[in-house]
Amino acid sequence: MKIKEVAVVGMGTMGSQIGIVCARGGFKTRMVDVSPGLVEKGLNSMRSFLNNQARKGKMTQEEVDTIFSTIDSTATLDEVLSGVDLVIEAVYEDIEVKKEIFRKADSICPKETILTSNTSTLSITEMGAVTSRAERCIGTHFLIPAALTPLVEIVRGMETSDETHDTVISFLTTCGKETVTVVDSPGFVINRLYLPMVNEAFVVLEASLASAEEIDRSCVKGLGFPLGPLAAADAFGLDILLACMRIFHRELGEKYRPASLLVKLVKAGRLGRKTGRGVYDYRTSP
Ligand SMILES: NC(=O)c1ccc[n+]([C@@H]2O[C@H](COP(=O)([O-])OP(=O)(O)OC[C@H]3O[C@@H](n4cnc5c(N)ncnc54)[C@H](O)[C@@H]3O)[C@@H](O)[C@H]2O)c1
Repeated sequence: MKIKEVAVVGMGTMGSQIGIVCARGGFKTRMVDVSPGLVEKGLNSMRSFLNNQARKGKMTQEEVDTIFSTIDSTATLDEVLSGVDLVIEAVYEDIEVKKEIFRKADSICPKETILTSNTSTLSITEMGAVTSRAERCIGTHFLIPAALTPLVEIVRGMETSDETHDTVISFLTTCGKETVTVVDSPGFVINRLYLPMVNEAFVVLEASLASAEEIDRSCVKGLGFPLGPLAAADAFGLDILLACMRIFHRELGEKYRPASLLVKLVKAGRLGRKTGRGVYDYRTSP
């Protein structure tokens, strides 16, 4: 099967970047969110990212314009789903919300359409099970920032067919991505390794073993991380990290308990960059 047209559902942190990847790969890309305000917010974040890339000389203004001319964000979810070959779901990390999207896509999309999820931790098999096309359901776990990170982790559900797997690899290769295929299990491989370490950075911070800056600097200068774990947590959202750790804790056991400092920060509404404050303060002084 050849992919020509793609739907990205959810235009938050990940969806807006995934839209750029698809459009840059030359695929007609249709994007939706729950309200016009959130669509506009997603488009603004894409504009600011792409303009920044152009300013740094990493992309020409012509490329930026071509990407936007390939994206359509004017249709409703039902209209979008009725005509695409591939759906990439990038909504909240909540299995019920994701299942609802899969159910809806299954009832509206043409029967050949492949349904993918960008979930960080949840079961692709479980999402596929609410559809009549589990063999056409697969995980495409893009990593933040999706437009720049070379790798996408592909997650095969219990029923995913070889044809679906091969089609999605070919689509992602055209988008300029490398892939690694893993078996469906909580957090797959990358997050199973990475998120418990980020969670542990909150434990270390709460125990006052070092300051946030020192913890991050140790990982950047000592371990070669591009970003320290606490700064990275602020970038991907403390609420998302907490949701992922809660899934690990429930599915994999006690050693994955979320750090109490992480729970407290989320309760305080300090979700990271997106709310202006997380571990660090991003608010500009008046
Ligand atoms: N943030 C990260 O670093 C990261 C990295 C890899 C994967 N992920 C995964 O990507 C997914 C999205 O995460 P995010 O960080 O972009 O979240 P986010 O909260 O920034 O964005 C989610 C978007 O989905 C929209 N949405 C919710 N329900 C919808 C619906 N029914 N129809 C259309 N839009 C809907 C919301 O309005 C919001 O704009 C999650 O599954 C997350 O685990 C996140």
